[in-house]
Amino acid sequence: MSVAAPVLLALDTATDRVHAALAVGAAVQALDLPGGAQASAQLLPALQGLLRDAGLTWSDLDAIAFGSGPGAFTGLRTACSVTQGLALGADCPVIVLDTLMAVAEDARQQAPQDCAPGDTVWVLQDARMEELYVGAFTWDGADWQVAQAAQLWPLTEPIARWAQVSQDTAKDLHLCGNALQAYPDRFATLWPLGVTVMGETAAPRGGALLALAQRAWARGDTVDVALALPRYVRDKVAQTTAERRAIAQAPRHIDRLMTEADIPAVLEMEQAACVHPVHAWTEDNYRSSLRSGYWMRVRCEVDGGRIVAVCVAMDGVDEIHLLNIAVARAQQGQGIARALLGLLYERCLARQASLLWLEVRPSNERACALYTREGFVEVGRRKGYYPAPDGREDALVMRRNIDLGGTARAMD
Ligand SMILES: CC(C)(COP(=O)(O)OP(=O)(O)OC[C@H]1O[C@@H](n2cnc3c(N)ncnc32)[C@H](O)[C@@H]1OP(=O)(O)O)[C@@H](O)C(=O)NCCC(=O)NCCS
Repeated sequence: MSVAAPVLLALDTATDRVHAALAVGAAVQALDLPGGAQASAQLLPALQGLLRDAGLTWSDLDAIAFGSGPGAFTGLRTACSVTQGLALGADCPVIVLDTLMAVAEDARQQAPQDCAPGDTVWVLQDARMEELYVGAFTWDGADWQVAQAAQLWPLTEPIARWAQVSQDTAKDLHLCGNALQAYPDRFATLWPLGVTVMGETAAPRGGALLALAQRAWARGDTVDVALALPRYVRDKVAQTTAERRAIAQAPRHIDRLMTEADIPAVLEMEQAACVHPVHAWTEDNYRSSLRSGYWMRVRCEVDGGRIVAVCVAMDGVDEIHLLNIAVARAQQGQGIARALLGLLYERCLARQASLLWLEVRPSNERACALYTREGFVEVGRRKGYYPAPDGREDALVMRRNIDLGGTARAMD
């Protein structure tokens, strides 16, 4: 066969589908079949059918291209070993394809408008176990350049990275991959930012595999069959009982100082956490507290860094005033507020502050229950202290005495 019109066979079983295609020059025949457990049984007859329909035999192939992953462990082994067996038999070289790049190419082929040179497409594929296979590829006008090689991300990472980007940055963010369909709720906060979804149904389809294979062929980018290897990014799929236990017991959160950069995420978290948005602190409240050097802590998820709680307090001479505490709605009732109050009691001990003060809306039953259980007692009431949806609302003034003898036990 001539270099200009190679006969290329391409296949990918990294997802739960079998994708395969045959190109005889510019003529392409593609297949998309159920995969998973059926992949190994489906693949060879499907490939044989493609060749038969084109009136060709194995020995007519110039090269065999396969999606090397990342993806399902068994699927990657199936694609690789079938390719090796066929390439050995056909005595032809192998083209190793990046499955995530094939998804980006499929998204480009499906998009109503072609990518502009310089566009970077992020591919997010479902890796199960609350994880994603992620890669980024920049279109140079004729081919893809790898902007970020395949990585394994926690499912929370895209939101942690992108939920606070400016609208200008967001419009340059092109996303595709089956994770967008598998976890629509997990990405929902990105859509109002104007992020571009290039192809929720993008997949390593035959047409995309062949486009990559043809470019690789033109570059002479083929390898000997012995060098065809799957691309694993998850080191280990099976965990021992001890490892599973260690993971379950590992801390899921860390506490750190709040900074100005945290303000947008904290505002969003608190607005959603409060019974009414008018109860939440404003941007000005946080900015002036930061300027005043108040004690400000955020609790973040270890995976992805998402902020799940905030706590602000003001030091006095021998007392501390709790100014604000909020826990993300989805994380409430798990003891997070109580744990943050525990940090404040420690601070009281460290600063020899024998009183901890706070104000709370009488209508805020959750907060009142929390403080009462924690040993705070009502010592006064400020009339019309808080803005409320229908005017003003009183504040209950609550106080907890701290035993400076060593334990943070309430003395009331
Ligand atoms: C009030 C708030 C901070 C509590 O946070 P949290 O992490 O859910 O609280 P915890 O899980 O630590 O719960 C501690 C105690 O709070 C009370 N509490 C928590 N969730 C509650 C609920 N759904 N209903 C009633 N009481 C509740 C309980 O007394 C609980 O003690 P228990 O577990 O022994 O029953 C949280 O609901 C919140 O962020 N609300 C919006 C912001 C706000 O109102 N902040 C207070 C400003 S003064």
